[in-house]
Amino acid sequence: MSQRPLNVGLIGGGGGAFIVNPHQRGIHSDGTRRVTCGALHPDPQKAMQFAAEWPYPMQGYSSYSEMIEQESRKPVGERIDYALIVTPNNVHFDPAMKCIRAGIPVFCEKPLTVSLSEADQLVEAVEKYKVPFAVSHTYLGHWTSLFARHIVRSGLLGEIRWVDACYHQGWLAGRTEDQGVQQAEWRTDPKQAGGSCCGGDIGTHALMQMRFVTGLEVTELCAYLETFVPGRRLDDHFTTYVKLNNGGRGLVRASQIAHGHKNDLRLEVNGTLGTLYWVQEEPEWVRIFLPGQPDRVYWRAVVQPNDGFLKDIPEWLLKEPTIPSGHPEAFHDAFGRLHRFFEADVRAYNEGKPFAADGSRYANIVDGRTGMAFIAAAIESSHSGNSWVPMK
Ligand SMILES: NC(=O)c1ccc[n+]([C@@H]2O[C@H](COP(=O)([O-])OP(=O)(O)OC[C@H]3O[C@@H](n4cnc5c(N)ncnc54)[C@H](O)[C@@H]3O)[C@@H](O)[C@H]2O)c1
Repeated sequence: MSQRPLNVGLIGGGGGAFIVNPHQRGIHSDGTRRVTCGALHPDPQKAMQFAAEWPYPMQGYSSYSEMIEQESRKPVGERIDYALIVTPNNVHFDPAMKCIRAGIPVFCEKPLTVSLSEADQLVEAVEKYKVPFAVSHTYLGHWTSLFARHIVRSGLLGEIRWVDACYHQGWLAGRTEDQGVQQAEWRTDPKQAGGSCCGGDIGTHALMQMRFVTGLEVTELCAYLETFVPGRRLDDHFTTYVKLNNGGRGLVRASQIAHGHKNDLRLEVNGTLGTLYWVQEEPEWVRIFLPGQPDRVYWRAVVQPNDGFLKDIPEWLLKEPTIPSGHPEAFHDAFGRLHRFFEADVRAYNEGKPFAADGSRYANIVDGRTGMAFIAAAIESSHSGNSWVPMK
């Protein structure tokens, strides 16, 4: 008999919210997970109203504290198997901590928190209570991200000398926060977003993509947090020059004032033997440039092992559920893949078995904390004359 679907509880998501939508498509994409309840809004009445109007049946809770308390009293099978936190950044720490203490696994949006000290407390709690914890770095869920990771980490590009991880957008090029756009309002408010808008919001994605694919860590950085739109309280342009723990160097950068750019996350990795180039808006392929050879374009789902360059591609990666090449996978599929990987750890946890949560399939709590350490160092560097600052 097939397994029962896992129950997921939403924290945030009512009233024109954005990221809850791709998440819930990802949650439902395999039929093995479903949303059963939610605390969808900070206002208790609105929270209940949004739950009642949800397009499919869900139990509403008037607050996340009530949801966590009541759900954790139910037996496994009836309670939520994990909580999805899709609130603004300043409402990640408290619900995450309450879930961890109640033994409820957490899938939390990025950036993990609004400060490094909050992130440290969550790391400690996850270690103590031993619950699965995912941080929603969406783009790791593309099949090509996993494939790029295999290529770089198995040494096919040689020693990595230089990386360029950038995420460019244009939606904050004007005073979007004055035009009734709630996503812009809270992202440019230091109380809700934290000490960085552009860096925290999308610079952390660029960092995570670089770390996931290469396995390299930033040891020191020199940062410029810049604000081009007059009157804005946080950065809308974010540039870091980084030193890597293998001696390599790179740029991790982001912009929200680059007209014409939508969700232009790119990663270029230059090694002693060749270069890898990956673009999230074209997530179906990975380009490889080798000296003296025609450029290679590897499409998802038609990769042939042992083609003169590739070797030892893991069986699980070749078998990872997907659709035939040419039927495009994209953003929603990346969410689906992350929730699928997380599901495996949650099922193991429910059965009292060991689970990996090692960051090899989705970003874990340590990755979330590393993102916050990166932002803290970047803010310190930018405020101290762009000096070199070590990562804590
Ligand atoms: N992984 C990604 O690709 C990605 C993309 C966009 C946003 N995000 C992250 O997702 C989070 C949400 O961003 P968004 O753009 O969806 O924001 P949003 O403003 O569209 O939605 C936020 C939701 O949180 C709810 N909320 C706020 N306080 C609450 C509380 N106390 N209790 C219950 N609900 C509460 C709001 O009512 C709203 O439904 C942010 O942390 C953001 O950085 C991640």
